[in-house]
Amino acid sequence: DWTADAFVEMTIEDLKTQLGDDHVIMALSGGVDSTVAAVLLHHAIGDKLHCFFVDHGLLRKNEFQEVLDSYEHMGLNIKGVNAKDQFYSKLAGVSDPEQKRKIIGASFIDVFDEAAKQIQAELPDGVEAKWLGQGTIYPDVIESISVNGPSATIKSHHNVGGLPDYMKLNVIEPLRTLFKDEVRRVGKTLEVDPKILGRHPFPGPGFGIRILGDVTAEKVRILQEADDIYIRNLRESGWYDKIWQAGTIFLPVQSVGVMGDERTYEHVVALRAVGSLDGMTADWIHLPYDLLAKISNEIINHVKGINRVVYDISSKPPATIEWE
Ligand code: XMP
Repeated sequence: DWTADAFVEMTIEDLKTQLGDDHVIMALSGGVDSTVAAVLLHHAIGDKLHCFFVDHGLLRKNEFQEVLDSYEHMGLNIKGVNAKDQFYSKLAGVSDPEQKRKIIGASFIDVFDEAAKQIQAELPDGVEAKWLGQGTIYPDVIESISVNGPSATIKSHHNVGGLPDYMKLNVIEPLRTLFKDEVRRVGKTLEVDPKILGRHPFPGPGFGIRILGDVTAEKVRILQEADDIYIRNLRESGWYDKIWQAGTIFLPVQSVGVMGDERTYEHVVALRAVGSLDGMTADWIHLPYDLLAKISNEIINHVKGINRVVYDISSKPPATIEWE
């Protein structure tokens, strides 16, 4: 019988044996998987685990600081890296979803490489970080095979593989055999911040693929405000924990509205909330009209630049969860 306690105990022992005095570098995303993997590694090797968390400027409102605080609170050896401008300038004028994913993936590797070099430079002479820690879980392993395999390229997820050869780091993936619910149980055993454990999945490219069309800092700001209102209302109404994933999408259209005596011509956001087990299929959630009305009013009244809110009532398949 699989238990989280036994898994934790055994994995920490295995990691100690495998790593000895070696140092490990790891990029954290604020998500459940990378966090739980890092906490396991930290239990095994302490501050020989060197973590960093990148702000690509495509995160939710306040997310970078909140997540960084929570990592520091958990005692991880972590550095925050502000790389917003680098991502924005590479993304400027690019609208194609796969192109945006590629740019975000490549920029992330550049930032990673730079951060890894800096960590190496701070290690004592003769000591080298030889390992790359990753929060890969079993479904990622499967999906990576199907995405990269001969059958079809669906979306170029960049969570698995994709790092350049010259980094020459050995990969260590303590959660490689686990499903998501098992990762959450392991996290609970390790007393990981419940706010991180209960988080909805969030795509690596973040708002880069929730802003349809080209990405600008101003669109990110508008989407952050609207999304913050949506997610806060889901939490306050008790719906957040009943939903597998929710998000706000910035649409590449403007529509006419009226505010007082003025005609407006502003942006539209779509709200999405789905139930799912693994993201492979998903049903749209029947949120109450009253809640949708409250969220829509709040967004339109408080977020400058938006005059219309729509709710996505499509399930997967044939729609996907993300719009890009
Ligand atoms: P779709 O849109 O394919 O999404 O129904 C299924 C799940 O995958 C997430 N997703 C991504 N995650 N990089 C990621 O790390 C990506 O490029 C990406 N695209 C989709 C999506 O948020 C959902 O949980």
